[in-house]
Amino acid sequence: MKFDQKSSDKLFSKAKELIPGGIFGHYKYAVRNEGPKFFSKAKDAYFWDVDGNKFIDLICGWGPMILGYNNPVIDKAAQEQYSLGNTVSVASPVMIELAETLVDTVEIAEWALFGKNGGDSTQLAVMISRQETGKDKVLKIDGGYHGANGWMQREGSPGTIDSDSSEVISIPWNNIEEFDSAISTFENEIACFISSPFHHPTSEDNVLPKKGYWEHIQKVCNEKNIIIIVDDVRTGFRIDLAGSNKAFNFSPDLVCLGKAIANGYPISALVGKNYLKEAANKVYFSGTQFFNSAPMAAAIATINELKNIDATSLMNHHGNDLKNKMISMAKSFDVDLRVTGVPSMPYFRIENDDKELHFKWVDNCLAKGIYMTSYHNHFLSAVHRESEIDLIVSLASKAFEEIIEV
Ligand SMILES: Cc1ncc(COP(=O)(O)O)c(C=O)c1O
Repeated sequence: MKFDQKSSDKLFSKAKELIPGGIFGHYKYAVRNEGPKFFSKAKDAYFWDVDGNKFIDLICGWGPMILGYNNPVIDKAAQEQYSLGNTVSVASPVMIELAETLVDTVEIAEWALFGKNGGDSTQLAVMISRQETGKDKVLKIDGGYHGANGWMQREGSPGTIDSDSSEVISIPWNNIEEFDSAISTFENEIACFISSPFHHPTSEDNVLPKKGYWEHIQKVCNEKNIIIIVDDVRTGFRIDLAGSNKAFNFSPDLVCLGKAIANGYPISALVGKNYLKEAANKVYFSGTQFFNSAPMAAAIATINELKNIDATSLMNHHGNDLKNKMISMAKSFDVDLRVTGVPSMPYFRIENDDKELHFKWVDNCLAKGIYMTSYHNHFLSAVHRESEIDLIVSLASKAFEEIIEV
């Protein structure tokens, strides 16, 4: 089925004249010839594109919209703070209230610092680790994404230089032997191990930690004075409000938060254990907009609302429902649909020699009105309720009907 996208296409042509690539950064990769490119409005779990097409959104702004678009509770909290002042020459007490909220909420948090994007938190976490340990190297996971700074990008990425990644060691996920081998090869050189709590690479099945993995990492890092940084930027608040590490039974030194922390208002946070407070105090890290108080008020309201409605349980419940219904719906077309990751962040992949079937199905889902991707995990929010799950499954089923003969 084709849908009208004249306005999207027209705007995209104009954008390409003015903006390199038309749409840049991670949004660029989601642009498809046939698909929405610009929104006109959004509400709860839905958005409308500039041509008036309505989409049930399984991407949630790439994570942030954990309580749905235009959530009145969060918007009110932000608006009230905007009306008092947002960027003022001194900080607002709301900053302290947010730090206290995080310390009370996130298990390992004894202090908090703030930035704008997830990449600020991960950058700061590495700097604090280097300051504390006096060591240079960063141990990370192959295909792990931590932001757009030079060292975080794949080696050889356009615009990066060799020295960006010369202190970065990358090992495969869930591989204790490779981890141990890196530790002994670079004895006394590794400042930190940075990883998401589970592996959510692009274009691959998402993989949970195997039994004993994080316990082993924790034991070795503690022995060798290596700081454990959990990058909870994508997973934060969708697995456990107290930190995703809780679900996997380990205790990192630093936790990076971003995306869902303020339901779309621009703020990120780094929280840590007390013994790193002095190092955190010494490292210079800042940005002109870091003290915006309205996003801080939005973050407090978001965390409180997530607690009030027990959002994590809701997302997990509906995520499980979505997973089970999608798998059995696909089975009725004789399709083996793999759903990996955690229920609130499902990654879908059709198991088939012909990869094209997967791409065709996702394109068709989009044409039917589900905003989803073929290469990235999806995000549920607390406003993806039973009716949204049933709508997704019924549209996804129609998408199969057109490409599979039963
Ligand atoms: C796991 C993870 N870490 C860090 C980042 C970087 O966050 P930001 O894009 O807000 O800088 C992302 C963004 O997708 C992410 O998924």
